[in-house]
Amino acid sequence: MTEEKPDAISEQFTNVLKSGKTVLTLEESRKVMELSGVPFNKSGLAKTEEDAVELAKKIGYPLVMKIVSPQIIHKTEVGGVKVNIGSDEELKKAYNEIIASAKAKVPDAEIQGILLEEMVSGTELIIGTTTDPQFGHMIMFGIGGIFVEVYKDVSFRLIPISAGDANEMLNELQGGALLKGVRGLPGADPKQLVEILMSVSKLVEDHPEIAEMDLNPLMITKRGTIAVDARILLNEPTK
Ligand SMILES: Nc1ncnc2c1ncn2[C@@H]1O[C@H](COP(=O)(O)OP(=O)(O)OP(=O)(O)O)[C@@H](O)[C@H]1O
Ligand SMILES: [Mg+2]
Repeated sequence: MTEEKPDAISEQFTNVLKSGKTVLTLEESRKVMELSGVPFNKSGLAKTEEDAVELAKKIGYPLVMKIVSPQIIHKTEVGGVKVNIGSDEELKKAYNEIIASAKAKVPDAEIQGILLEEMVSGTELIIGTTTDPQFGHMIMFGIGGIFVEVYKDVSFRLIPISAGDANEMLNELQGGALLKGVRGLPGADPKQLVEILMSVSKLVEDHPEIAEMDLNPLMITKRGTIAVDARILLNEPTK
């Protein structure tokens, strides 16, 4: 696990706000979450098609490609995510398609590059935080996919949470069996999930300027629970 570096995180936030933005890119959000101790899959940013081919050698196929732009919050909506890329040919084609689609859908988007990521599989989880006007920062944990969208199978707590709170959150889910692993899908190590929930809680506790963040999804893989998407929104700075 990466050691916590609150200074690097504050610096990152200051830079984003200085540039007049409140939304961190996928790459910036991942970096902050990694510094907070959240494990991620292998990744790298490609700025050209050639970069992408070189990077793919390090990450390995199959891989996932995602647009990195401060103006694009929901990447899938703009054709900005492609999964299961299996060769250099597919990679080059996808690289150009992602950029063309993003430019067509968000004409003034500043495209910083395309993130190449190791492709992983397993049950999808979601962790998010919001700011309630009355209660302050809240943390949410649930099973991803239709369990969030249809069944609303999620658990909430006020930040900060204790290890006991985090354990209760795991036990409260209707689909809790999925955490243990069913039908050949790997189960999660509850200790690791508790650590991740506490890392997120601590990040928001230490940085109350975070208005919202989410890890959507985290995946329960054979190698442990790994986040593959991250988003952080900051409060407008008070003048
Ligand atoms: N590295 C990966 N390996 C396997 N599947 C992935 C990977 N990254 C993303 N996916 C799948 O693609 C979906 C969309 O990717 P991602 O969450 O990064 O994009 P998004 O459009 O910003 O998502 P949203 O706005 O819904 O949070 C994920 O929910 C997941 O199902
Ligand atoms: Mg996502």
